[in-house]
Amino acid sequence: MNLPTTQITYRLTSKSGPEAIKRFEEPLNTDIDAYEVLIKIKAVALNYRDLIITTDEYVVKINDGLIPASDASGEVVKVGTAVHDLQVGDRVITNCNPERLFGHVKDHNTGIGNGKDGVLTQYRIFPHYGLTKLPKDCHLSHEEAASLVCAGVTAWNAIFDGKYTFTPGQSVLMLGTGGVSMIALILAKAAGAVTIITSSSDEKLRYIKEKYGVDHGINYRTHPDWEKEVLKVTNGEGVDFVIENGGNGTIAKSLASTKIGGQVSLIGFLSSTTETPDVVGLALLKSLIIRGVAVGSKELSEQLVHFVHAKKLGMPIAKVFGFSEEQVHEAYASLKSQSEIGKIAIRID
Ligand SMILES: NC(=O)c1ccc[n+]([C@@H]2O[C@H](COP(=O)([O-])OP(=O)(O)OC[C@H]3O[C@@H](n4cnc5c(N)ncnc54)[C@H](OP(=O)(O)O)[C@@H]3O)[C@@H](O)[C@H]2O)c1
Repeated sequence: MNLPTTQITYRLTSKSGPEAIKRFEEPLNTDIDAYEVLIKIKAVALNYRDLIITTDEYVVKINDGLIPASDASGEVVKVGTAVHDLQVGDRVITNCNPERLFGHVKDHNTGIGNGKDGVLTQYRIFPHYGLTKLPKDCHLSHEEAASLVCAGVTAWNAIFDGKYTFTPGQSVLMLGTGGVSMIALILAKAAGAVTIITSSSDEKLRYIKEKYGVDHGINYRTHPDWEKEVLKVTNGEGVDFVIENGGNGTIAKSLASTKIGGQVSLIGFLSSTTETPDVVGLALLKSLIIRGVAVGSKELSEQLVHFVHAKKLGMPIAKVFGFSEEQVHEAYASLKSQSEIGKIAIRID
């Protein structure tokens, strides 16, 4: 395959926000070792953390000149001499921590798009084991496939991994209508869950009911005591699983929304509250399982791809932007606005 000698790459030039992400034309390194592959990136999906990385508010140290974003879908264009599991032309998605094949992440600095350079670039070299291969006849667009990497694997981990595993007929509560929540809704529904989602907007809830068939929608603005609404629609019992995206500002209500013995997955920190609520009593009295979820391993990514492919599930792509500097900035602005439902993606031509 004829490869170009240069490529377009975006880099974070200061920690002053998304406008500091600048476009560069750089030499393309195609010199891979025996166990590496070169990927042509076709689409990138953004996550909330990509936004806070631009202002250095994320948990790991952000290097100067970082290539942002972790979630990419692409095509293999060159393989090392010792690589046997991937071939030129295969479709692949990235994993947030390429070294995390199984189990938990030990060092968060190994994450791409935060500790290490990410994927907002036309080509990138990966170790062959750090990617998840998509099936040959995969129905997903590149944007949909990219959305599985962080939001998808996190949602999968929260519902289907861990000691307390999901059984069809159980209920799952998702907080907000962002990427993690919407993919959790799609997966939970396909697996036979009763689904409940909260949102700041009746319009978003109407859309989600119509398009995704969520069983119950609760507006947390017009129902500040939304946990009472959750109890109402679950016969006073509460839900089996909570996708806890809000953090300190929502955790107490999430615990109050959970069934005795249920599981709350601590995933996000979208609420701005810094006060630590008193949750010990509730968790203890209801024998709750509180489980920290940090994305997931390649093993979970492969399980997710298998499930999504087997059930031919579509992913919730809200908007797709282009690869010009202006479009990249617009993509980040759209993410920041929180006006969309699901994922914001960038297509790389
Ligand atoms: N632990 C992990 O491995 C992991 C992985 C992925 C993401 N996360 C974290 O999970 C959270 C969600 O990530 P994301 O990428 O899905 O975000 P996102 O797509 O940017 O989601 C934003 C949406 O969340 C909702 N929201 C905002 N503030 C809220 C609040 N106080 N309570 C309830 N909902 C609220 C809003 O939807 P409505 O307008 O409908 O309310 C908003 O549109 C973030 O904190 C992110 O950092 C963690």
